[in-house]
Amino acid sequence: MGARRRTAVLISGRGSNMSALIAAAADPAFPAEVALVLSNRAAAAGLDVARAAGIATATVSYKAGLAGAESEMAAALDAHGIDLVCLAGFMRLLSAGFVARWRDRMINIHPSLLPLFPGLDTHERALAAGVKVHGCTVHFVRHEMDSGPIIGQAAVPVLAGDTAETLGARVLAAEHALYPRALALVASGRVRVVDERCVGDAAGETGMLVSL
Ligand code: GRF
Repeated sequence: MGARRRTAVLISGRGSNMSALIAAAADPAFPAEVALVLSNRAAAAGLDVARAAGIATATVSYKAGLAGAESEMAAALDAHGIDLVCLAGFMRLLSAGFVARWRDRMINIHPSLLPLFPGLDTHERALAAGVKVHGCTVHFVRHEMDSGPIIGQAAVPVLAGDTAETLGARVLAAEHALYPRALALVASGRVRVVDERCVGDAAGETGMLVSL
């Protein structure tokens, strides 16, 4: 087995996807280890979970502006020898320069089947649109929000009587299954970006997780 890729998880809040990644990485055979959890909010509940798991944490402040925050972030990532970055409910936009530096080494989870419903309030918008299938996407990060080559998706049904809360809970459970599988693909080098699409084992491995 090769060295496990040192991974940072960037959060802003409760960190349930972070917890799913930490749980998966507790298996020594998992190809990534969570070496740092970084938050832009000192009060993020996920920081306590990470500390309890013995993982290094850092907090960056955006009070002095984007450039200052990103240079703090870059310093923390360097100091911990980070190879891969996972955005997991990180609620700040990243600059073009930061995104470029981490190109094809930074992934994000988004609670919709992209390219449908980028941005916020995805479950409300899915219900308003009347879609019958909804879900989540893990993708490489590009500067345009919620865009970039798709590594994997998981689908869930929209059921009669769903509210944004019930639908969101169903999607969140799918997120927790999908994100570790997508990170494993990236960390083990089994996914490549060709012409801005993911190819390789990805098609067979996470082409679509369907739980209908
Ligand atoms: C998730 O729904 C994720 O898809 C979105 O933000 C939410 C974060 O939740 N980007 P958590 O902090 O991982 O619990």
